[in-house]
Amino acid sequence: MLLRSLIAVSATLISTSVIAGDISPTDVSFGEYGGISGSLTGVAGDPVAGKKVSTNRKLGNCLACHVNDDASAQSFHGEVGPELNGAGSRWSEEELRGIVVNSKNTFEGTIMPAFYSTQNGVRTLKKFVGKTILSAQQVEDVVAYILTLKEE
Ligand code: HEC
Repeated sequence: MLLRSLIAVSATLISTSVIAGDISPTDVSFGEYGGISGSLTGVAGDPVAGKKVSTNRKLGNCLACHVNDDASAQSFHGEVGPELNGAGSRWSEEELRGIVVNSKNTFEGTIMPAFYSTQNGVRTLKKFVGKTILSAQQVEDVVAYILTLKEE
């Protein structure tokens, strides 16, 4: 099951080029516990766009590993990671940005992909070298969306 999710994730990766003006993946600085304090783009995240990125099998594909009741219209949620329900109450914006950019700085040895890193932990096709799974703005959008998932 774990293996199947991982294959699904790596098979659907669509890499994105870094846009000028964004903080590049190699310049991102993480706090002591893996959080990232400033916006990657300077443009506020859009939670509606972020929900689409998180459920899109070719982008975030978060549902391959996480249950999210807010996206219950989408079938087939994986259970590799913790539920995203209430994650907006458990984590701050800084922490969530760090988790989406590269959760290895928060959870040592995790299998969660690094969505804004050129070392995204998945065997990289040559044409994707130096690119990221999500754009900087898509990261900001996903963070804004996860922050809306408050504990009931
Ligand atoms: C390949 C599986 C996988 C994918 C895909 C994945 N995650 Fe994760 N995620 C995990 C695992 C496993 C953990 C638990 C951390 C650990 O490894 O101990 C986790 C932890 C988290 C946490 C902390 C949860 C909590 O409250 O404890 C958040 C938030 C999160 N992921 C968000 C996301 C988002 C947003 C996406 C999509 C952009 C995503 N994840 C995609 C596997 C995944």
